[in-house]
Amino acid sequence: MTTPLKDKHIILGVTGSIACYKAADLASKLTQAGALVDVILSESATRFIAPITFQSVTGRRAYVDADLWSGEGHVVHIGLGQAADLFVVAPITANTMAKLAHGEADTLLTVSALAADCPLLIAPAMDGGMFQHPATQANLETLKQRGAVVVGPAAGHLASGLKALGRMVEPFEILGHIRHLLAQDGPLTGRKVVVSAGGTQEALDPVRFIGNHSSGKQGFAIAQAALDLGAEVILVTAPVSLETPIGAARVDVTSAREMLDAVRAATDDADVLVMAAAVADFRPAQTAEQKIKKEKGVPSVELARNPDILLEVAKHKQKNGFPKVTVGFAAESENLRANAQAKLAKKNLDLIVANDISAQDAGFAVDTNRVVLLSAAGNQEELPLMSKAEVAAAVMLRVLQLLGDHHE
Ligand code: PMT
Repeated sequence: MTTPLKDKHIILGVTGSIACYKAADLASKLTQAGALVDVILSESATRFIAPITFQSVTGRRAYVDADLWSGEGHVVHIGLGQAADLFVVAPITANTMAKLAHGEADTLLTVSALAADCPLLIAPAMDGGMFQHPATQANLETLKQRGAVVVGPAAGHLASGLKALGRMVEPFEILGHIRHLLAQDGPLTGRKVVVSAGGTQEALDPVRFIGNHSSGKQGFAIAQAALDLGAEVILVTAPVSLETPIGAARVDVTSAREMLDAVRAATDDADVLVMAAAVADFRPAQTAEQKIKKEKGVPSVELARNPDILLEVAKHKQKNGFPKVTVGFAAESENLRANAQAKLAKKNLDLIVANDISAQDAGFAVDTNRVVLLSAAGNQEELPLMSKAEVAAAVMLRVLQLLGDHHE
């Protein structure tokens, strides 16, 4: 599966902090995502970690200050800087932040940063007092005003033993910010995509609810795929235990009625709605204010019908034309195509993702899925078993085509 990191040239500057050990993990994660990572270590970084560590995980040369004065020395910084799609410094110390803010160029890392004309992302790591110092804050502000993306620092345990703001954020989070930054000029840039995910919960009393097995994995993967194409993403989610894809605006809801309100508000001017959520069709007609006691016998629960979110969206679309493209899902254990086809027509969708949940490796909660894409125009595309991320990328590719077909 390709991501916005594939074949991108990234310079990873590493400066002298105990967080250097995490930079090796970041270099590895970037490389695994398909990026070409050239590491430049500052002199003090080499006191914490050796260039060979980075060379081993990136499969490429890691540079140190001595390379500035080597045979190719007078051009190495220009070459590195010009080839880069992104310049990352993680961890960045207060000292290197000060140098970059003032345009100093006395090391291979700082001279390369000055020579590069690509975006800059920094992940500060230092003791809390150093971070809060007015000089550091002023340097940070200068860098931000010049367009640098600043990730962190996080609060927590510091090498000094203190708990304060100063920890470098975790590599997976930096990776998410890099992924988001590199997706900025994608084919969905300027488009608003609303995605729903998870299973709604319908309260019986303060402790019990009617729910389903949706984990949110498929919906969150759709949100990530839309972000990878450069879209602005609103992720309306029922309760799930998943990290929000970096760059998505998350709206937490619990019940179907709350999801309806959130989806309606978000789709008023949206280009796309993808409803991957498993929405409860019924809710308890009454929610008990206090916990239902078993001593009172077995209660009988009367159900009331929930609104159909896609039907409500379709009504609105008829009036104002938004969202331009609507995609539904249909989890089916039998008659997959026929049942999905009926939902496609009834809910006035442009595309439905017919989700075969008859096997253990597809549908609810697992990491893989098996789907058929059915379009309103009559096209059918059966996809083999694949990861939910791959399904998401395939769905968003169809969405791109549908947006192209949608004359504005
Ligand atoms: O979350 P995971 O564990 O990754 O699992 C993914 C999934 C199986 C939940 C997902 O891939 C999926 O298939 N979602 C749709 C579940 C379903 O069967 O929905 P449905 O057939 O009840 O509804 C059809 C469509 O109408 C869906 O897009 C649904 O979001 C929407 N709907 C349903 C009911 C309702 N009241 N309002 C709606 O808008």
